[in-house]
Amino acid sequence: MKTKNLALFASGTGSNALSIIQHFEGNPKVNVAFILCNKTTAPIVERAKSLHQRVILCTNAEVEQPHFLVNLCKENEIDLIILAGFLRKIPTNLILAYPEKIINIHPSLLPKFGGAGMYGAHVHQAVKDANEKETGISIHYVSEEFDTGRIIAQFSVLLNSQDTIVTIQKKVQKLEQIHFARIIEQEIVENGK
Ligand code: GRF
Repeated sequence: MKTKNLALFASGTGSNALSIIQHFEGNPKVNVAFILCNKTTAPIVERAKSLHQRVILCTNAEVEQPHFLVNLCKENEIDLIILAGFLRKIPTNLILAYPEKIINIHPSLLPKFGGAGMYGAHVHQAVKDANEKETGISIHYVSEEFDTGRIIAQFSVLLNSQDTIVTIQKKVQKLEQIHFARIIEQEIVENGK
């Protein structure tokens, strides 16, 4: 199998991006080519650099330019793009250039609590307000509509009445750390992505 080049897009803390980097470290079949970040002050920038990863900083205007991301990914021979907490809408032409090759993780059991404005604590707040008995994560391909692409895998966790936004987030993050990189590897190895 040819080595697969991954691009990780992240905007924040980067706990998912870091766990993906660590998961594939030393694996000759998978190379994290770069981390793209649209926020200079995001913690992921320094965290990735400390792991000697290449970080590419971009502006929101560049993300919206029709050819910027496609050119960047094509020039770097990217096979698979991973959205690990990237808080910008992915332009249509990148989705068309990488059909079922862009994977996102969403911190709820889609289709519940997905769509525009549903990110970070907003998701967990909505889950709590709805008195949900469980929540979880959805790992899915990216399509043109927010959070509606084909679901690859979902994992759930039980909630109770004592749960707060903070404890819900912790439960969800635990699932992310256990499953995200593993599912990406499964898509590459078993499904030839
Ligand atoms: C995660 O909760 C993920 O599900 C969502 O954005 C968050 C990113 O967190 N898409 P981190 O930056 O990886 O810590």
